[in-house]
Amino acid sequence: MHFETEAIRTQTERTQFQEHSTPLYLTSSYVFEDAEDMRASFAEEKERNIYSRFTNPNTSEFVEKITKMEGAEAGFAFATGMSAVFSTLAALLDSGDHIISARAVFGSTHSLFTKFFPKWNISHSYFNVNDVDKIESLIRPETKIIFAESPTNPGVELLDLEVLGKIAEKHNLILIIDNCFATPYLQNPIKFGAQLVIHSATKLIDGQGRVLGGVTVGNANLIREIYLFSRNTGPALSPFNAWVLSKSLETLPVRLDRHCENALKIAEFLEKQPNAEKVKYPFLKSHPQYEIAKKQMKAGGNIISFEIKGGLEAGRNFINAIELCSRSANLGDTRSIVTHPASTTHSKLSEEDRLEAGISVGLVRISVGLEHPDDVIADLEQALARV
Ligand SMILES: Cc1ncc(COP(=O)(O)O)c(C=O)c1O
Repeated sequence: MHFETEAIRTQTERTQFQEHSTPLYLTSSYVFEDAEDMRASFAEEKERNIYSRFTNPNTSEFVEKITKMEGAEAGFAFATGMSAVFSTLAALLDSGDHIISARAVFGSTHSLFTKFFPKWNISHSYFNVNDVDKIESLIRPETKIIFAESPTNPGVELLDLEVLGKIAEKHNLILIIDNCFATPYLQNPIKFGAQLVIHSATKLIDGQGRVLGGVTVGNANLIREIYLFSRNTGPALSPFNAWVLSKSLETLPVRLDRHCENALKIAEFLEKQPNAEKVKYPFLKSHPQYEIAKKQMKAGGNIISFEIKGGLEAGRNFINAIELCSRSANLGDTRSIVTHPASTTHSKLSEEDRLEAGISVGLVRISVGLEHPDDVIADLEQALARV
């Protein structure tokens, strides 16, 4: 079946009420026929719901959809994108293990690698997005995972997933891709050799800035380990959020087509502005990794980054001059959002780490929404005139 059809027709079994749309299963636990039913269910001799920290019909529907969309074998849904990143890594890593990661990762993922994992003797090495040929030299006997985002947040740089997949396969490492910026509609990292794919569902999957959520899908044996860890540690997605997110997936393809169309138009406008430089959007021909984008993505997504000439002061003036777009840290909403990563999402990074991750003080990130693109362009134009 086609992606669009799966997104709509993958549905929890109907109840005796024959509802058309999936109802909301707000229940923390489930009942058993008798003692034997209860024993067999806990022994996993039966596949059924026991307790909503483990599974729930709404979360299972959401997971089943993402699993199909990513071409994965299994999955588990989390309360946030960060709980998906943390629980996935914590479930698979032992004390003494080593992670190799692209340097340009989301700020909280960076904090996980640098501040929290060292407490459990888990170390990391970073590679720059343009230095994938150096990855093999970073591999140690204790290396277990290669981690990356593509496109990256907030620099909108790309990693060649095929190259990463080949390195992971050659050295028997687990390749994990945070696919948040692309969504399963635009890019399927499993096709290129990833064993696990993570999403912050808070972004384009929800698409309307309402709920938090996360999900990890991929190889069934690895998901089993992640499930056992999560069933005991409790980062599960709430049934209400799962219900919202599963509904959102029904419109993901149509929303994304429009997001991408609008973003390309706005990126082309920005490229022509004298006080905007280094405009990065995956499907702009001027993007240094345009060929990689074409190979692995269906379209360019909704995030654009660029630098305002004039550094920090000009960046602040631009953000202050914005009238229509929202000043917010979120992304992937129907509302266009402008963010200044150096003073917000990536402010916890040292200046050296920030610059190495490609985040200059003048960098602006735009999450293009679903307003008419001409109105967004008019807002950006008047703000650029006032920096
Ligand atoms: C690439 C990426 N990964 C993970 C996250 C974390 O997701 P959440 O905010 O749902 O915890 C974000 C949030 O911005 C992100 O951009």
